[in-house]
Amino acid sequence: MQTYKIALLPGDGIGPEIAAEARKVLDALPSDVEFEWTEAPFGGTAYFETGKAFPEETQKVCDEADAILKGPIGLSKEESEKIPVYEQPERGALLPLRHRYDTFANYRPVYLPSALTSFSPLKQKVVGDGIDLLMIRELVGGLYFGPKEEGTDDQGRRFVREILEYDESQIARILHVAFQEARKRKGVLHNVHKGNVLISSVLWNQVLDEVASEYEDVEIKHVIVDAAATALCLNPNQFDVMVMENMFGDILSDLGGGLLGSLGLMPSACVGPDKSYYEPAHGSAPDIVGQGVANPYSMIGSVAMMLETSFGLSEESRMVWSALEQVFADGYATPDLANQGAGFKALSTSDFGDEVVKRLTAKPVTA
Ligand code: NAD
Ligand code: IPM
Ligand code: MN
Repeated sequence: MQTYKIALLPGDGIGPEIAAEARKVLDALPSDVEFEWTEAPFGGTAYFETGKAFPEETQKVCDEADAILKGPIGLSKEESEKIPVYEQPERGALLPLRHRYDTFANYRPVYLPSALTSFSPLKQKVVGDGIDLLMIRELVGGLYFGPKEEGTDDQGRRFVREILEYDESQIARILHVAFQEARKRKGVLHNVHKGNVLISSVLWNQVLDEVASEYEDVEIKHVIVDAAATALCLNPNQFDVMVMENMFGDILSDLGGGLLGSLGLMPSACVGPDKSYYEPAHGSAPDIVGQGVANPYSMIGSVAMMLETSFGLSEESRMVWSALEQVFADGYATPDLANQGAGFKALSTSDFGDEVVKRLTAKPVTA
């Protein structure tokens, strides 16, 4: 039997709560393949246990896995400040993970089917039949990974310098991904940039013109990032595939979660040349940790993305998506959404996972 090795990094805050539901769902999936899990510490909890946010043992587990499923990491400001700046979970674990596997292509779907439009804070006439767009974020370049310097100037003032770097190959490869996705969907690509100010965006746009010659069937629409934020709120359905550099993608994808009604609806795939990892787009939600109310959709959706992207199991992936949607369609949601949508019954994190499993394993009714 084909076996896939999964490194499970539950992470911090609500991470372990939603990771348990993701594992429960995958373990229940009717399939001809087998999944072998290895759990490893990662993030703030790993630092407190081992003195490292991304311990060597965890690196080894990830190196040996076919794919990595990661819960959110991050601590409250007070907890984080107990850790040296470069070992804090974001800088000490998450960015090194992205760098190690060169996971340059981050897929962040912003999706709300028509039956669930009441979750969105937007007016019904704006949401229409639902929201379905795909943000593609460059994940291993730009300000996040450029050289950094801190010091004191000759007048005794503290200063910092963080450099936004991209070379043309980094830009070209994410644009190829975006054009290919646009081609698979509606043939329209929105290029999000800040070419009126940043020369990094000027190079980005030049490379886009060059890469575009290979995709003449795809229509390109340019939009400046600040205007894109407004346009997303006023009329998200004018967008289908959007591509952008790292920092713009961080900010606009959280805006995407806002359009849907909760960050708990935001799964993601972080794809590299040889290995990919999957994680919710949101953080460790310290404000709701331990209450059993976190929405596990983002983590279970990340499993669905892993099945399709890393293992080529499209049918199994579709089954997970449809079980997830069916739970909502039957009127259940975790409190982040149940409190918004009309007539939804609130479920705990683990009850939501159980409902997904029930629908995934239900035998088709025969006459
Ligand atoms: P956050 O995304 O953790 O939370 C923002 C809001 O969304 C909170 O009100 C939270 O309760 C809610 N929320 C998020 N996920 C939810 C879910 N699944 N179900 C229900 N509600 C949910 O953002 P923050 O509070 O700014 O950040 C907390 C920590 O997470 C920080 O340390 C940050 O660096 C880290 N972070 C990590 C990742 C990651 O691991 N990829 C991503 C974003 C933030
Ligand atoms: C995300 C997060 C991360 C980012 C942080 C935690 C490093 O906000 O995945 O969106 O900024 O990329
Ligand atoms: Mn973010």
